[in-house]
Amino acid sequence: MCGIVGYIGKKNSKEVILKGLSRLEYRGYDSAGIAVHSNGINQLKTSGKVADLDAKCIKEKLPKSSIGIGHTRWATHGIPNDTNAHPHQDITRNFTLVHNGIIENYLTLKKYLAQNGIECKSDTDTEVLVQLISYIYNKDKISFEESVRYALMKVVGAYGIVVLCGDEPDKIIAARHGSPLVFGIGDSEFIIASDTSPIIEFTRKIVYLDDAELVVFTRDDYYVKSILENHIILKTVNEIQFSLNQIEKNGYDHFMLKEINEQSNSIAESMRGRIIIDEGRIKLGGLQEAIQDILNAKRIIITACGTSWHASLIGSFVIEELVRIPVNVEYASEFRYRETIVGPDTVLFAISQSGETADTLAAIKKAKSLGALTIGVVNVVGSSIARETDHGVYIHAGPEIGVASTKAFTSQVTVLNLIAILLAQAKDRNIKEVANLVNDLKLLPEKVELILKQSKKIKSIADNYIDAENFLYLGRGYQFPVALEGALKLKEISYIHAEGYPAAEMKHGPIALIDENMPVVFIVNEKGYEKIISNIQEVRARGGKVIIVTSIDQEELHEYSSHVIHVPSIHQCILPILTTIPLQLLAYYLAKAKGCDVDQPRNLAKSVTVE
Ligand code: F6R
Repeated sequence: MCGIVGYIGKKNSKEVILKGLSRLEYRGYDSAGIAVHSNGINQLKTSGKVADLDAKCIKEKLPKSSIGIGHTRWATHGIPNDTNAHPHQDITRNFTLVHNGIIENYLTLKKYLAQNGIECKSDTDTEVLVQLISYIYNKDKISFEESVRYALMKVVGAYGIVVLCGDEPDKIIAARHGSPLVFGIGDSEFIIASDTSPIIEFTRKIVYLDDAELVVFTRDDYYVKSILENHIILKTVNEIQFSLNQIEKNGYDHFMLKEINEQSNSIAESMRGRIIIDEGRIKLGGLQEAIQDILNAKRIIITACGTSWHASLIGSFVIEELVRIPVNVEYASEFRYRETIVGPDTVLFAISQSGETADTLAAIKKAKSLGALTIGVVNVVGSSIARETDHGVYIHAGPEIGVASTKAFTSQVTVLNLIAILLAQAKDRNIKEVANLVNDLKLLPEKVELILKQSKKIKSIADNYIDAENFLYLGRGYQFPVALEGALKLKEISYIHAEGYPAAEMKHGPIALIDENMPVVFIVNEKGYEKIISNIQEVRARGGKVIIVTSIDQEELHEYSSHVIHVPSIHQCILPILTTIPLQLLAYYLAKAKGCDVDQPRNLAKSVTVE
């Protein structure tokens, strides 16, 4: 959440920062701001999007400068207005700072500052930090770097910050604790950002900042230090793994549509080199050393949030079916605060697209502290979760920019299937069943293509429901998490209220909602077919409108519904991948028809780095 960019080099920093912010806008888009050095600090902020900030920079003639910082905000403390937008300046106007995260003890610090004659202007937690840096600098007469370091030692909470100081116009200082920061090393230039997307245009050489680290950039050098011990840390320089092309829209109206359409390729990438064709065996390098520990574990927990939690639920079903080990699926935000039974004989899988979700990261840290073995299933290479876990498997879906997760979900389910197969093979269980699943996995990409060819049909179905105020999604077994995911996709981008339920649960409450205005999406598969047909009849008897997504070719389904969307049949463990895609498209076309901002839905942000 919140996007940060800082630049020091030879270019006009405004251009670099605004371009970078627009690439980071999926992290937050309620207000934006920029500060550059040019005879003191010049700063502009506005509520609204990066495009509004760009217009303000032109109108108010932001001076040219080769050093600056910028921010795109997802509000936590204080409404999105010009005052609360970042950067925040201290009262002497000597320091300015952008921040991602939450300063949890900001009220205590604010009181302390007030007692010393410093009043904050904004409602944010962030302003307190810049005022504190300035207060320490003026009181203790110490350097810019030392003032930042001392101030950070007083902070409780999470931060990724970048700071400028008017007295030292050739320097940028950045620091991290709990919120991601990465910097790129260019040719006599450095660019620091919340993730790699603004960096790739300038360099592929990057360094990930770790928690409790601070970096100081001068015009031609940098060094990284420990905030607590103040000693120099030698960092590894990594390579960015994706291309610029992968983070462009490439002719699509929205990133979400592009990413939905990429799924046959992204799923193939998730499997590339991992199925040994001749033997039908699975190879996952990052898991090789953990297999026995997983099989010997007393408890397996999968933890995640949102869409990744839905993928986890499917993963747990597959592991239980194929490997016959019990698996619990936990919301990371609940797991971390519950008195869960975790110990050295527990294995915790953490599933995350961004690899930065604060609750998931905290759940991993808690499990680790109790002795559990942790395994990450992550998309973003080099992300915090990928680095925090003991072992890991990347899903290799490629960059996902659309705020609503699509291709990451189908790749997560694919990789969780690969993990289940690997474990079943290591245990010599369900050999025939597993072989069938492996064969069907190979067919996934071409079957996904067949679904994508139905986009026009799905769009015309969506057109019938523009005025719907509620939707219900119902499925059984493997299709229950799909119902949850279909409902989440719809509500987050179209703002239509939607609920997902196990189909049989309908009669325990939600059935009260059904009338002629309620569209109900049933995801129908073979297991429990007769039962779900009864549920469909119950909805019809109450006037509800039925939409069916199914792999079953039965004439009666057309009779019982207003619309049927067919997906090819495939092994039930991976059928959720196919049945989810029409629901992604349905949500997309409904949101688009309603004129919603599909890639930047209100109140949301990708990469939820606050708790
Ligand atoms: C929904 C969505 C969110 C994320 C959730 C976890 O479309 O994108 O529900 O799935 O915030 O994010 P990651 O997977 O990055 O940990």
